Amino acid sequence: MKSPTSRQLALQALTEIHAGSRANVVLAAFLGDQGRGLSERDRAFVTELVQGTTRMRRAVDHLLQPFISRKLDPDVLATLRLGAYQLHYLRTPAHAAVNDTVAVAPRRASGLVNAVLRKVADVHPEWPNEATQFSYPDWIWNLFLETWGPEGRAALISMNTPERPLPRSDGYIQGQASRWVSEAVDDASPNGGTIVDLCAAPGGKATACGAAWSEIWANEIDPTRARALREVAENYRPEIQVVVSDGTNTRFDDRFADAVLVDAPCSGLGALGRRSDARWQISKEAISRLTGTQNALLEEALRILKPHGVLTYSVCTITQEETCDVAHAFHERHQELRNLDIQGRHWRQYCDGGLVLPHDYKTDGMAIFQWQREG
Ligand SMILES: C[S@@+](CC[C@H](N)C(=O)[O-])C[C@H]1O[C@@H](n2cnc3c(N)ncnc32)[C@H](O)[C@@H]1O
Repeated sequence: MKSPTSRQLALQALTEIHAGSRANVVLAAFLGDQGRGLSERDRAFVTELVQGTTRMRRAVDHLLQPFISRKLDPDVLATLRLGAYQLHYLRTPAHAAVNDTVAVAPRRASGLVNAVLRKVADVHPEWPNEATQFSYPDWIWNLFLETWGPEGRAALISMNTPERPLPRSDGYIQGQASRWVSEAVDDASPNGGTIVDLCAAPGGKATACGAAWSEIWANEIDPTRARALREVAENYRPEIQVVVSDGTNTRFDDRFADAVLVDAPCSGLGALGRRSDARWQISKEAISRLTGTQNALLEEALRILKPHGVLTYSVCTITQEETCDVAHAFHERHQELRNLDIQGRHWRQYCDGGLVLPHDYKTDGMAIFQWQREG
């Protein structure tokens, strides 16, 4: 059987993503399975087509909309989006973008795809607003602008051309902002000892811990993600001990650890570049649910922290609720905690913690807070 072409693979992946599957999961499965025969260059092209078309969905739909008069089947719509993305964002010559997309279109719709894409190729876009132009839901666009003003706009635009994370010296591929969190964890506890990472999968930060730690415990609630964590630990840091439990209610003893990292589940609004479909899946309502879990994780982290131990809270988001508000409320509840300055020149000072916005260094947006337990 002939191997699928890059565009065929991209189209299959997009159809699954539009049906609700996670982009990174679908891509990894497709590239690992059917894409095995592709060259590195073709794999990068499939990735670009899938991530870019998913990310720019709102803008692409605006380009297509004048030429579509009826509801389309999902595979046809995915084909049109793929073609329009190439025409307007990859600068693929129009005849190639149209012909190569028509070649992979569902046969019953090849005439329609051809006709619509030819028209889209000639469009000089007029955008009704910047949320459409930069392809974000209105609520995310407004939230960033209300919270950060022009910096929020810069952050959103920056996440449309995200960082390509590089391998660490041990080969694990990790974003730079995540590495800065691990460095801050190490710097705050130069004598090492026992560390617990309460929310550890897939294991990026746990495996990046420095050499001073004598014991590293990596906890994760989700059994599937814990399997991935175990694999990463075996490959990159075999001494890590993996535990599968709810980090808000663990079996670690009181005052067990010299340091605890709560790299909490969050809205991920600082990592929208890396997760191309996330902007379409997160809801505003989810944020207040997440802050409940974040609070509960911090309480459990403090229970298992030794006196003089260091607690680090980090999130790859930049909403006020999940960063300053959670951190302030926690500190208010616990006067035995002393706030620590965040080490590392990359961090902006932010509400007694540190912050990196996506456009500062072309990384994920990340917030971090650290406290030392005094009593
Ligand atoms: C931001 S990710 C952690 C990333 C990880 N620290 C790394 O650097 O690779 C958050 C993780 O917390 C897990 N999680 C969510 N709720 C949890 C809970 N109550 N207890 C423990 N883990 C939880 C999620 O499944 C997810 O794997």
